[in-house]
Amino acid sequence: MERLDKFLCDSGVGTRSQVKLILKAGRVTVDGAVVRDNSLKLDPQRQTVCLDGRSLGGKRRVVLLLNKPAGYITATEDPKDPTVMELLPAEYRAMDLKPVGRLDKATEGLLLFTNDGDLLHRLISPKKEVPKVYYARHEGAATDEDIEAFAGGLTLRDETVCLPAKLEPLGPGESLITVCEGKYHQVRRMMAARGMHVEYLERRQEGSLTLGALARGAVRELTADEIAALERE
Ligand code: URA
Repeated sequence: MERLDKFLCDSGVGTRSQVKLILKAGRVTVDGAVVRDNSLKLDPQRQTVCLDGRSLGGKRRVVLLLNKPAGYITATEDPKDPTVMELLPAEYRAMDLKPVGRLDKATEGLLLFTNDGDLLHRLISPKKEVPKVYYARHEGAATDEDIEAFAGGLTLRDETVCLPAKLEPLGPGESLITVCEGKYHQVRRMMAARGMHVEYLERRQEGSLTLGALARGAVRELTADEIAALERE
């Protein structure tokens, strides 16, 4: 544990007397709450300190899991539509979190966020091939030929070739699709390439992570064990 004023001085914010004034002016937050007490003790590895809304060094690594509702776009800002960032509780807003990959505006389900750039790149890299499982309601019924076409690596209508993927029909007009890459509108375009228009899409799993009991629109932090498992994927 470290005193807040020492941490701010060591981060190059100013001298001890300058730091005192900066704190008094309410410009410093710890985990999203304004702190004016320069003797506050904090753990810079676990807590996020911001000056004027910008995170200072020693930031805490966070990975969040959101159960995304339809109607939000996956972007950090947008002039027109609400973004997934608006679904994050206030204490996470100043943590420089970025969505890991993207879900379409209409797609629901599992979306991760992190402020760890290395982890972000690892998870979205096509080389890592973290499997993602989607539930789709769609027109038509998936056949054995569709299953084989997915397994062999589909060619989309625009000639893009996909990596082998798994199609598991659950019943007429309902399937699970497992893909290991994240091309634009990937699942919708794969299903369309086999004549099955997707009417509803939900991401249910990414690597070993599932939505579990997390309600639609709700967010939770991953545990250290869950993060370690993600890093091993
Ligand atoms: N594939 C899609 O088509 N849309 C998504 O949102 C995710 C995967």
